[in-house]
Amino acid sequence: MLNGVEHKFVETADAVVVGGGVVGLAIARALARAHFGRIVLIERGQLGAEASHAAGGMLAAQAECDGADAFLELACASRDLYTGFAEALLDETGINIELERTGTLYLAFTERDELEIAHRYSWQSSAGLSVQRLTVDEARELEPCVSPEALSALRFPLDWQVENRRLVAALATAAENMGVQLLTCTNVESLLMERGHIKGVETAQGRIYSAVVVVASGAWASSLLTAEMSEPVIRIEPVRGQMLCFDARSAFARHVIYSPRGYLVPRMDGRLLAGSTTEHAGFDKRVTATGASTILTHAMEIAPALGELTLVDAWSGLRPRAVDDLPVLGESAQTRGLFYAVGHYRNGILLAPITGELIAAEITSGIASPLMTAFTPERFHQVGVG
Ligand code: FAD
Ligand code: GLY
Repeated sequence: MLNGVEHKFVETADAVVVGGGVVGLAIARALARAHFGRIVLIERGQLGAEASHAAGGMLAAQAECDGADAFLELACASRDLYTGFAEALLDETGINIELERTGTLYLAFTERDELEIAHRYSWQSSAGLSVQRLTVDEARELEPCVSPEALSALRFPLDWQVENRRLVAALATAAENMGVQLLTCTNVESLLMERGHIKGVETAQGRIYSAVVVVASGAWASSLLTAEMSEPVIRIEPVRGQMLCFDARSAFARHVIYSPRGYLVPRMDGRLLAGSTTEHAGFDKRVTATGASTILTHAMEIAPALGELTLVDAWSGLRPRAVDDLPVLGESAQTRGLFYAVGHYRNGILLAPITGELIAAEITSGIASPLMTAFTPERFHQVGVG
């Protein structure tokens, strides 16, 4: 239910999307834009309330990719879509997702950090990406909050950020405005398959029959995927990330600022986010004293003045991670009509626009984009991972 509209339970659909985070919502919206027919998105809790709300909203293709590979290509392709994506969402819904274009700084504090940023500068400039090398004085001129202990910096002018909670709201409103049925508080218990075809889903409220089902259920995806033995074993594990949120109304910074250990994200409304942790803690979403203290240490290394700010909020979320850290995108080779869109790990906000477009295009045309080749579910069969 959205905007107070209660939907009645349907028994058939042209496409069912399981999971109402940014990934599922982006796919449902893209299918609706392609006029695919009756689309039902099923979310067992509230839309976007899991990893998609917890995120920092950074479009950190250059700060977070580690080399010029297929993942970088996917990340940059999605980043390039963001301007049009934000404009279209504003047009469709009136919701501004606050695409902020100041860019990202990446700081070095140790000799090892300096080697890391020299390497990053070298492979990114060879790959033709927009990257600038800065002295610490230049970095401090751009952002006076940067610690005088920093040794040097990179600037990525095109690594922007969005307000991910507004993104969730915009995607949900856009999808619903275009006729997608959003079923919240409804758990998908299993996938219905028969002789190599998907048939629909079994939910707590009953069956929905559909020849297309997209699994976009984030860190919980494995519970639906491991039961079917003919499928490759796709293990998606939850990786906890904690976040602190400060009141920084006095314009603390404009850039997103990284070090190799943490990051700061200044929001347009005056909040300043500091992240994060990378923890294998199962489905435990607590904010812990150790997590908060680690984040604070790394945040104050970047900007010591943060110690004077008021801590106003803290939360954590579960990043959906596949064993090779890469997203899993595309149709199953064993089960016609079953599509995967999982494993977006640290970059699901960045990858939402391209994931929506690629999955919707494969569903509507039957053709998988070459951009998806490295992310096929079949790679787990091929290398026997799992
Ligand atoms: P989710 O948002 O978790 O959505 C999955 C949904 O599926 C959930 O709502 C869940 O309730 C639902 N679901 C699960 N099982 C079922 C079922 N059986 N039936 C029905 N519904 C089901 N990414 C970036 O790009 N930039 C960042 O700056 C960034 N920062 C991050 C910071 C932190 C602290 C964390 C935790 C993550 C961050 N990420 C970032 C990663 C990003 O949040 C995720 O990659 C992204 O949100 C994944 O989206 P999703 O839709 O796959 O998962
Ligand atoms: N991409 C930031 C994080 O996952 O913490």
